[in-house]
Amino acid sequence: MPFRFSVFSFQLICSLMLLNCYHLTMASEFKRYTVTSALPYANGPVHIGHLAGVYVPADIYVRYLRSSGKDVLFIGGSDEHGVPITIRAKKEGVTPQQIVDKYHELIKKSFHDLGISFDIYSRTSSKIHAETSSAFFKTLYDKKAFIEKTSEQYFDPTANQFLADRYIVGTCPHCGNENAYGDQCENCGSTLSPSELKNPKSMLSGAQPILKDTKHWYLPLDQYESWLRQWILEDHKEWKPNVYGQCKSWIDQGLQPRAVTRDLDWGVPVPLPDAEGKVLYVWFDAPIGYISATRDYFAQGASANHAMNTWETYWKDKDSKLVHFIGKDNIVFHCIIFPAMLKAEGSYILPDQVPANEFMNLEGNKISTSRNWAVWLHEYLEEFPGKQDVLRYVLCANAPETKDNDFTWKDFQNRNNNELVAILGNFVNRAAVLTQKYYEGIVPALNNLTAQDQELIEKLKTYPAEIAKSIEAYRFREALTIYIDLARTGNKYLADSEPWKIQATDPERVKTILNLSLQLTANLAILGEPFIPFSSKKLFDMLNLAPLTWDHAGSYNLLKEGHLLNKPELLFEKLEDEVITKQVQKLEDTKKENEYASLTVKPPKEAVQFDDFTKMDIRVATILTAEKVAKTKKLLKLTLDTGLDQRTVVSGIAEYFEPENIIGKQVCLLANLAPRDIKGIESQGMILMAEDKDGKLSFVSPGTAVSNGSQIS
Ligand code: 2FM
Ligand code: ZN
Repeated sequence: MPFRFSVFSFQLICSLMLLNCYHLTMASEFKRYTVTSALPYANGPVHIGHLAGVYVPADIYVRYLRSSGKDVLFIGGSDEHGVPITIRAKKEGVTPQQIVDKYHELIKKSFHDLGISFDIYSRTSSKIHAETSSAFFKTLYDKKAFIEKTSEQYFDPTANQFLADRYIVGTCPHCGNENAYGDQCENCGSTLSPSELKNPKSMLSGAQPILKDTKHWYLPLDQYESWLRQWILEDHKEWKPNVYGQCKSWIDQGLQPRAVTRDLDWGVPVPLPDAEGKVLYVWFDAPIGYISATRDYFAQGASANHAMNTWETYWKDKDSKLVHFIGKDNIVFHCIIFPAMLKAEGSYILPDQVPANEFMNLEGNKISTSRNWAVWLHEYLEEFPGKQDVLRYVLCANAPETKDNDFTWKDFQNRNNNELVAILGNFVNRAAVLTQKYYEGIVPALNNLTAQDQELIEKLKTYPAEIAKSIEAYRFREALTIYIDLARTGNKYLADSEPWKIQATDPERVKTILNLSLQLTANLAILGEPFIPFSSKKLFDMLNLAPLTWDHAGSYNLLKEGHLLNKPELLFEKLEDEVITKQVQKLEDTKKENEYASLTVKPPKEAVQFDDFTKMDIRVATILTAEKVAKTKKLLKLTLDTGLDQRTVVSGIAEYFEPENIIGKQVCLLANLAPRDIKGIESQGMILMAEDKDGKLSFVSPGTAVSNGSQIS
């Protein structure tokens, strides 16, 4: 169990770190940017948790850098190795390659449709990745950077193969969950090693695994500990508190050698002669996927803005800033293991920033792929056509930057209606519609400036730098708040100056007001591009302007007098309650399906002989009277017509039935149960009840009315 992470110490460190403000690394220090976003496993579609944690912030950052004229390469791709993919393939009865082919295409398309602007979206099952990752391994091997170790690992004698941690299930030593995996318990969140599981079982055959010797290669992380301590804990104090805190916790607990190979038939084969049946561990090959994706991009023919460079410029030149966008579960891999690999190799740059986010929950519960508790991107895109920016906006406004956050459909609706429609949409619509109405869409003259105009102009100038500062500090929520505040400023300007009221009396003044409002709209188009690129494009189209870059923002001279605008179109539309209710209902249905699927039944009782059964005299009877037994919560006193007689039975069903509701009901009675005294009442038999897993009781009754005394046999 080389890695163990204590949640408590992490939280403590995080809170300490919050006191310790992190410094900003300003964009200007580097010549270019290599921006990566975690490679999602191609074993399922992506959901809003992935988007809020990684891809939306990464895309905002990259779009901002591009707009600022920076040389930036944005890398994405599918992580196509690892055990979850082989498990999925097994479940679906197809090959791992078929699984990754299917999901790679689905994920790639949905990212594209949401406007995530990768320069390359590659994949780790590609030839170039196999070459790059095996060469990387071989370099480390040749440098003697690995240690070789033979150890006992679980082996399935029936399936005749070693078992990856995920292929072993058993009882969690911490919480007793009987379905914990060999690497993690999903019930209590503990990181586990297979040897810790009680009653381990192979998921392949159900057999009990045996221990068998196997040789693997390990990266001796302990040898990098003092370097990592200096590099992260001293030289990167500016990293986000959650990232720094997690790293400190890992380092303080002492690093252990980490196996970088596995016994598995899916992955990049270990490029050594004595390594048959072994592949690179997925967390060894996946981050190298960023490098192979870059090579892939240049091999396919880079676009003009990168063509002066080579892949190596982005990975080996000290003037390139490497930034990894990831979720918090990937911190150790990107901050400790991958940097140790890069350091061991020796010719690569190291990450300058790893702005990991926390997790996004959904309607109060953890997002879960296996429980289908998610808003899937490809489904959203189908169900909300043309509303990509609404999702981008909401996920950024509510991004889990410093703590886990919750996505709710109500908040989605509110932010759309109260912010995008009522603030941003409202302002640009008023500016555009009034310009059409008064000047047939022609930008009016800027006349004498009043103090109010001067104030607006001065304020406008501050926004680009303010937004940029927040983006460069990876505070995307803050950046978006400032952006919306610019639209709010525009609304206030119009509300205060009331052009619609003074058009008849002071048309020259109205020209100035609308000219400035249109200049502000052009600024909103520029500054909104990183966050809401589809709406930014619509705005530029409406203004009949070619897209402008960040350095133009802050100016009130972007539209010349006499410039003809295009017809205004609505940027955002109100979301009605029905749309939201439908989504909430969809989740409710999922919840019910999950509850149904998780129904468990008690194990069967010991076998009995037929004679044992025939000893029981079970008959149909009708309840004639029912009343609560005084001073008890659970008991009802019933009188039954058994066909043989009328008798009293005391039954523990008072918590589930009101006495008046059960009179006249036919039930089944164990009629020859020896009489018992219950609370001073002689009970002559027992009513049969069905009890579900939550202890809820229902009567066992004949399907149609039968005469009392009918026997059950
Ligand atoms: O956690 C995950 O989804 C991983 N597939 C992320 C890999 S990131 C990188 F290393 F490739
Ligand atoms: Zn557990």
